[in-house]
Amino acid sequence: MKQDKIVVVDFGGQYNQLIARRVRQCHVYSEVVPYTISLDALRDESVKGIIFTGGPNSVYDEKSPKISKEIFNLHKPILGICYGAQLLSYLLGGHVSSATISEYGKTEVKVIRPESKLFQGVSSTTEVFMSHTDYIDTIPEGFTLTSLTENCPTGSFECEERKIYATQFHPEVMHSVQGQKMLENFVLGICGCKGDWKCETFIEDQIKEIREKTNGKKVLLGLSGGVDSAVVAALVSKAIGKNLYCVFVDHGLMRKNEGDEVESVFSKFDLNFIRANAQDLFFSRLQGVAEPEQKRKIIGATFLEVFEAETKKLSECEFLAQGTIYPDRIESGLGISAKIKSHHNVGGLPKNMSFKGLVEPLRDLFKDEVREVGRLLGLPDFIVNRQPFPGPGLGVRIIGEVTPEKVRIVQDADYIFRQELHRAGIDHEISQYFAALSNMRSVGVMGDFRTYDYAVVLRAVQTDDFMTAKPYPIPYDVLTTIVDRIVNEVKGVNRVLYDFTSKPPATIELE
Ligand code: XMP
Repeated sequence: MKQDKIVVVDFGGQYNQLIARRVRQCHVYSEVVPYTISLDALRDESVKGIIFTGGPNSVYDEKSPKISKEIFNLHKPILGICYGAQLLSYLLGGHVSSATISEYGKTEVKVIRPESKLFQGVSSTTEVFMSHTDYIDTIPEGFTLTSLTENCPTGSFECEERKIYATQFHPEVMHSVQGQKMLENFVLGICGCKGDWKCETFIEDQIKEIREKTNGKKVLLGLSGGVDSAVVAALVSKAIGKNLYCVFVDHGLMRKNEGDEVESVFSKFDLNFIRANAQDLFFSRLQGVAEPEQKRKIIGATFLEVFEAETKKLSECEFLAQGTIYPDRIESGLGISAKIKSHHNVGGLPKNMSFKGLVEPLRDLFKDEVREVGRLLGLPDFIVNRQPFPGPGLGVRIIGEVTPEKVRIVQDADYIFRQELHRAGIDHEISQYFAALSNMRSVGVMGDFRTYDYAVVLRAVQTDDFMTAKPYPIPYDVLTTIVDRIVNEVKGVNRVLYDFTSKPPATIELE
């Protein structure tokens, strides 16, 4: 029996991934596909329903993304959201008009057909999120209006017989208070999905798949200590034990004690853990280099060199495991609304390495699912809930030349910063936070003596996508404790600055 699946057809909307995640929260597997997908692919019996996403276009634009009317002949339940609603209305003979002003933000929707299967368990008026300029002024023949808002006479409509549903609003967005219930009604009620997609079953299936694919052969994994590669290590080790070789390059630019912590976690797993202690090599290569891009390049190249030297000793590995996750694949152009992010991971692969095959067990998972799998596999909280950490490590958190002394200062300051945010109970609210070292030295006074020491920079940001970010307002008393502790406990620091800049114009990291 094939896994039930909901296919999210991407028409360029910014919430395409979010829709798929919301469906998965109903324990139903879901995938984002481009609107150019062949209808044959949708015909498969595992596809229990189809969702059309929103998108920035108008259906009357010649170049706007469309899909063949034939899709309705598949007789699968369809839910159109925003542009998706307009498109299905247009294809089925309704009419879309352009309004003079856009409707954007939260609004109250009034359900006028309470017996609608989409609105079961939803209140008669509920807050939803709207974001549109065009609206549907005439719904297709045979359809019934099911809700409206003050500014939009066609909030939602449906043809129960044909199982086609449409909402002008976005049920997937958090501001749509009962939106998750509506999606659940569609996925479980209307499409009849069983709701049996669970991380536990995912793990069992993957273990079987990895064993079959690698068939007793050895597998190599570059372990960075980040969530994704750590979860791959735990999962692949469950499947093939000592046939897994994990290479961990310690470049000396990790957070305080991190190298040892990673080693201690993975030495408890059934796998071969190989730690390459290359701190001295990295420091010698970085000596006298201050230009950020040059530093990044040196760190990246040295990393590959060390990784390659280690893996040469492991030439019997026929497979390479990687921590690719679903958003990485969507961002690399799987969907049409792809934002191509330059992935500057130092964990890239040396060009001259070749493998018989790739093992990418997390390729279909979202980050929160990866964390859940990690928890179920027994990885500790500090790895599973780890915030993002740049590949070049503290190298991009130290302005100017990187020296062991500066690394020690940043590590100690960062350790205090993390401890105090945790103590204040706000660490889980902040997307990313760290201490960095400005290259500035300034005059201070300690006891009766003049000091001329470094200034530490504190950074804490709130963000969903890391493309834009807002500074997180750390309470004043927490900041005071952090600053007092850093200047008292970290030798070489006499000043602490709080970076309160958004991205843009700043970036999250300092370099
Ligand atoms: P910026 O500084 O560009 O950072 O605003 C955005 C996010 O990306 C992370 N980052 C990196 N991650 N390799 C990585 O794997 C890198 O070279 C790198 N540089 C920045 C950064 O920590 C933030 O989360």
